[in-house]
Amino acid sequence: MQTASITLKTTEHHHVLTISPPVDLALTGAIAIPGDKSISHRALMLGALAEGTTEIRGLLLGEDPLSTAACFRAMGANISDLNTERVTVEGIGLGQLQEPADVLNAGNSGTTMRLMLGILSSHAGRFFTVTGDGSLRSRPMSRVIRPLQDMGAQIWSRAGGLAPLAVQGQALRPIHYTSPIASAQVKSCILLAGLATEGKTTVSEPALSRDHSERMLRAFGAEVLVDPDTCSATVVGPARLIGQPVVVPGDISSAAFWLVAGAIAPGSDLLIQNVGVNPTRTGILDALAQMEADVTLENAREVAGEPVADLRVRGHNRLKAGHIGGDLIPRLIDEIPILAVAAAFAEGTTVISDAAELRVKESDRLAVMATQLSRLGATVTERPDGLEITGGKPLHGAEVDSHTDHRIAMSLAIAALRATGPTTIHRAEAAAVSYPGFVDTLRQVVR
Ligand code: S3P
Repeated sequence: MQTASITLKTTEHHHVLTISPPVDLALTGAIAIPGDKSISHRALMLGALAEGTTEIRGLLLGEDPLSTAACFRAMGANISDLNTERVTVEGIGLGQLQEPADVLNAGNSGTTMRLMLGILSSHAGRFFTVTGDGSLRSRPMSRVIRPLQDMGAQIWSRAGGLAPLAVQGQALRPIHYTSPIASAQVKSCILLAGLATEGKTTVSEPALSRDHSERMLRAFGAEVLVDPDTCSATVVGPARLIGQPVVVPGDISSAAFWLVAGAIAPGSDLLIQNVGVNPTRTGILDALAQMEADVTLENAREVAGEPVADLRVRGHNRLKAGHIGGDLIPRLIDEIPILAVAAAFAEGTTVISDAAELRVKESDRLAVMATQLSRLGATVTERPDGLEITGGKPLHGAEVDSHTDHRIAMSLAIAALRATGPTTIHRAEAAAVSYPGFVDTLRQVVR
């Protein structure tokens, strides 16, 4: 068996990742994946708002949670050095964040900006300014600004609801917000604003998005009511949050790259340890089951209020096309780029629909995946709300570009493992937003 060649070149601004796979590549072994990004953000934020100490194990050291930590440090939270072993956050109590002396920078992180906006808006008497990188400054913030304004928030933005933003904190009033989109960022923003607000603040959404905020708020002592029938969550304010130990499970959105890598490489047998399998996040498992991938859950357990399991994937070359749409979309919203890669190796035409939200992620993921996968020889048609991918045609190596989107960079790297000849991925450093050790693990599993 030949070995794969994986080289990473660093230019002044960017990384260029070149992957030359052998024809008979199979992925084997056991791997650990980094901590869940969504849970890492929330642990840092709730820790800062709580009274007492929050101890976080397994924090994701990606660039996005680092942005969150920097913002909350700038507002007075005492957060220890960041590591995966044990991070402590000395909270300063609800409503007690200090006015920062400078602009808060959320970097590339939509979760940081949107969730933080709910917290800042409800800090009466304090003024905040918030910005982000070029990608984040082009992403829609009106989806959170409008409901916050309904609560009485004072927020200023550039035209079209774009950052930089300015916030004059206020005492807010509770609302019942019916969100037109299933978005955990919108839901969490409003619930966080409701923490300091007298009365019941409710968010209803068209389908259930990830519920990490509801779970963690409860664990920290807030009164949170959920109604699965109406996809509603309510927080009763004013709440009092008490610092807690948090154990962050591995991120299923990061595991997804290895699940697909194993599923499309015949002979693979890969164990991915300690993966969060919260039912609001496991759409990727349902989609891969539909495509007849061989994925099994082992050692299912619950850790600090979140379900966790080890995932085993075995590879074969008989994947079938799937239909991915409707209520499944919020449960696999971040996994669509890598599912598009799986579809390129599946027999038949996979249709991904109801996924227009992908156009306002870190990049326009529908447009970018359509062009980049086509460069590798895949048959992809872009639809207004999704993609159509006809699989089965062998892919060939090519020059592709992440468009500085972490999930695109990693999805293209996985596609490259099963392409003929070398693939060069430009701006591959984007992976560090959610998965700092991605290239190291890639080298480990293809050895
Ligand atoms: C996230 C929610 C999702 C997801 C993002 C993280 C969160 O965004 O895409 O990566 O932590 O709440 P939307 O709420 O905009 O769908």
